[in-house]
Amino acid sequence: MRIILFAGKGGVGKTSVAAATGIKTSQMGHKTVVMSLDVAHSLADIFDLDRGLLDQNKGQPIKINSKLWIQELDIQEEIQRYWGDIHAYLSSLFNTAGLDEVLAEELAILPGMEEISLLLYINQYVRERKFDVVLLDCAPTGESLRFISIPTTLEWYMNKIFKVERKFAKYLRPVAKRVTDVPLPGDDYFQAIEDLYNKLKGVDKILVDPATTSVRLVTNPEKVVLKETQRAFMYFCLYKMSIDAIIMNRMLPGNVQDTYFNDWITRQQHHLEKAKNYFSPVPIFPVNLFGGEVIGYGHLERLADEIYGAKNPLERFFKENPYQFIKENNGYRLKLKLPFVLKKDIDLNKRYDELVVRIGGFKRHILLPRQVAPLNSVTAKLEEEYLNIFFSGGNHGREKG
Ligand SMILES: Nc1ncnc2c1ncn2[C@@H]1O[C@H](COP(=O)(O)OP(=O)(O)OP(=O)(O)O)[C@@H](O)[C@H]1O
Ligand SMILES: [Mg+2]
Repeated sequence: MRIILFAGKGGVGKTSVAAATGIKTSQMGHKTVVMSLDVAHSLADIFDLDRGLLDQNKGQPIKINSKLWIQELDIQEEIQRYWGDIHAYLSSLFNTAGLDEVLAEELAILPGMEEISLLLYINQYVRERKFDVVLLDCAPTGESLRFISIPTTLEWYMNKIFKVERKFAKYLRPVAKRVTDVPLPGDDYFQAIEDLYNKLKGVDKILVDPATTSVRLVTNPEKVVLKETQRAFMYFCLYKMSIDAIIMNRMLPGNVQDTYFNDWITRQQHHLEKAKNYFSPVPIFPVNLFGGEVIGYGHLERLADEIYGAKNPLERFFKENPYQFIKENNGYRLKLKLPFVLKKDIDLNKRYDELVVRIGGFKRHILLPRQVAPLNSVTAKLEEEYLNIFFSGGNHGREKG
């Protein structure tokens, strides 16, 4: 089984690229589902399907061809399926807080429920081997990063908080009733959480297993978009998810003659070069801007050819972690694989939240996590094929090259 996430900033082409990839893998004979994690679903629109068809289908997969399905989660349906007791408790809580009943029900859909529902599906599909390929059309960066953090956060909550909370509620319930109107959750609420947690077990391992899962970052050759892609790149690395390709969508084709676009073409080439510094050794796949919107099966097929050419979309285009951050006694260590490099050729330069590693004519920009960015004492050591870079000290430390 293969799972591929398509993530990136709003509007860069995630849904189109995910859908195009789905067409290609299904045509290769793999049973494929493209799932949308975005609340503002647009999968159906991209396939040019009738909205009503999807709404009738209540969030279940819809068949596109003999091997391809698309699925847009319907949170209302999911609530009935998985969240009943949890949702009931939360809405009673908001309701006693004096909120209107309808609003209370609406508010009781907490951020994260949709993402957890999607994780439940992924886990189910993997366990039941229901599909060969699961393609996830992620929401714009911020939200999709929350989605990958859920298994870790939930694990922490279940181990550290949940049991204590459940016990507390059990003993306090009789007392609480006498002193406050605010309902304490009943045991069915806790049981529902525990059931959900059990259903989610293992999904964290699936997401970080590079043999199964990889992330493809969709981006555009523009400064602001690239900055966000760099950030996403760092976060996926922190979560130890394998990024196996960068899809540089919307490149102006070389045969555009109109001088009006000269500046655009130069800038895009410049950003494409920059992107190599940011994301290397992960490969970049440039994709041309089409003459019009990419809508409907035929256009998506063409887009797939444009992205992958003769390559197999299921290939793991890059297998290793590009880098790792490790917390140490008095700071952080960044571990970079740099085979065949000599110490004298390496030059480091830190500019607040960015580290530039220069090796001869080659440059690599690494965005630093929030905790690491203010540490200004930087030292480095080459150990076999790894370059270890240590960050320590306060905001006033001196930079070392
Ligand atoms: N290579 C391309 N050439 C021309 N148009 C494109 C290309 N890629 C995407 N588009 C168009 O850009 C628009 C946005 O694409 P898409 O919906 O796939 O982006 P998205 O990243 O999923 O957006 P959102 O963040 O809103 O979900 C669509 O109208 C799509 O047809
Ligand atoms: Mg989209």
